[in-house]
Amino acid sequence: MRIEIPREVERFGPVQIHDVQKVWELDAGLKLKELEPKEKERRVITRISYESLQDIQEQMAIVVPIKDEKIKLLEGVLAGIPHECLVILVSNSKREPVDRYKIEMDALNHMSKFMKKDIFIAHQKAPLLAQACKDAGYEYILDDKGEVRSGKAEGMILSTILAYLCGKKYIGFIDSDNYFPGAVYEYVQEYSAALYSAKSDYSMVRIAWHSKPKIVESSLFFAKRGRASEHTNKVLNMLMSSYTGYGTEIIKTGNAGEHAMSMDLALNIDYSSGYSIEPYHYINVLERFGGVIDSPSADVMKQGIQFFQIESRNPHLHEVKGDEHVKSMSREAMEVIYRSPLCPDHLKQEILIDLYNRGLLKEGEEMPETVRYYPALTKVNMLKFKQALAKASFAEFLKADLSKYKHKNGKKKLARETVKSKDHLPDPHEQLEIK
Ligand code: GDP
Ligand code: CO
Repeated sequence: MRIEIPREVERFGPVQIHDVQKVWELDAGLKLKELEPKEKERRVITRISYESLQDIQEQMAIVVPIKDEKIKLLEGVLAGIPHECLVILVSNSKREPVDRYKIEMDALNHMSKFMKKDIFIAHQKAPLLAQACKDAGYEYILDDKGEVRSGKAEGMILSTILAYLCGKKYIGFIDSDNYFPGAVYEYVQEYSAALYSAKSDYSMVRIAWHSKPKIVESSLFFAKRGRASEHTNKVLNMLMSSYTGYGTEIIKTGNAGEHAMSMDLALNIDYSSGYSIEPYHYINVLERFGGVIDSPSADVMKQGIQFFQIESRNPHLHEVKGDEHVKSMSREAMEVIYRSPLCPDHLKQEILIDLYNRGLLKEGEEMPETVRYYPALTKVNMLKFKQALAKASFAEFLKADLSKYKHKNGKKKLARETVKSKDHLPDPHEQLEIK
């Protein structure tokens, strides 16, 4: 892959948010390929070899959240995920009157006869997973009935724990309702490229899709951003500006469902429920590590946190879920920004006015409390979580080496060796990678 270096970077304490990076070549060849002498001077482009991407993918789990989606779509998505990644399907599909989860399992069994992939599926409501959460001291995502709550975020949180127990160093998310397997393939390549170039162990990459095809007056129109995104991005940028004193448009991926991060970062951030989880990544990282409020982890503060945003080349086409869905997603995004201790009063007012104007709240109505917050996964006793899953159908995949793992409630406890192999890598701002 050949990617331009980020042109701009906004800093918020140790948090770096890089501008959107454009992809110039989806495949930039093998490691040993000779570079033309001229090319060495073009330091605005980074070449990431095929092997380097693969190295990252061997250490990456791709989580596919699914809730009552068409099986044909799922099949395409699975076909698009690069071979080296471990795939974790986390389902919250209906069990009755039609058992959609069973259909998913059957389909997966059938597909696995043709595809050769490391893949497993778990149901979000499986009693075994709820028990594991209880045993591990992470009951926050359980409801009154003792089941894991519904919601995309809750599924993602569960699968982050599973990916850790599989010994993975990176975790990426791909929605199951994507119509283009080629786009799925591209997103994972971009995750890998960004995480490969990251200099901090605490990094995240988010996809800013290039365009979204729509039918407008019976011809195809390629819209640049989704409806909810524009508002979320604007308000996130205003939040940044209110601290830095400079206007900015740096954040273009406030609602990015397509994102990946290092496991070290995934374990060290708090989460929020449902569809607010994606904008909350930005908010929470700024809250926890931005330096305005006390920070819980010295190592994260020292290394810094890097956000990358990559503009994909494939158009983004997913299932249309209707106006109500987009509205509630947008309102939840606004709610997590509004509720942040970082959010200044004047921005709170702007958020309310924006919601009134768009009819997402009634004039004069206060911000309702609909979003839940979940503490970082450093709270999970991973040993106990793993023990509780000894009889799970996917137990064979949970092969992280936990021999040095020690659980110290609430503190950072990554006993797993984190490979600090990034030191030799070039600074994306300065050098062309020659590998
Ligand atoms: P959008 O693409 O962000 O507008 O939202 P979608 O409704 O398409 O949801 C994104 C992905 O999350 C899709 O693959 C859904 O099937 C999946 N999803 C939605 N709700 C849940 C849930 O409660 N649990 C799980 N595991 N997945 C969910
Ligand atoms: Co979707």
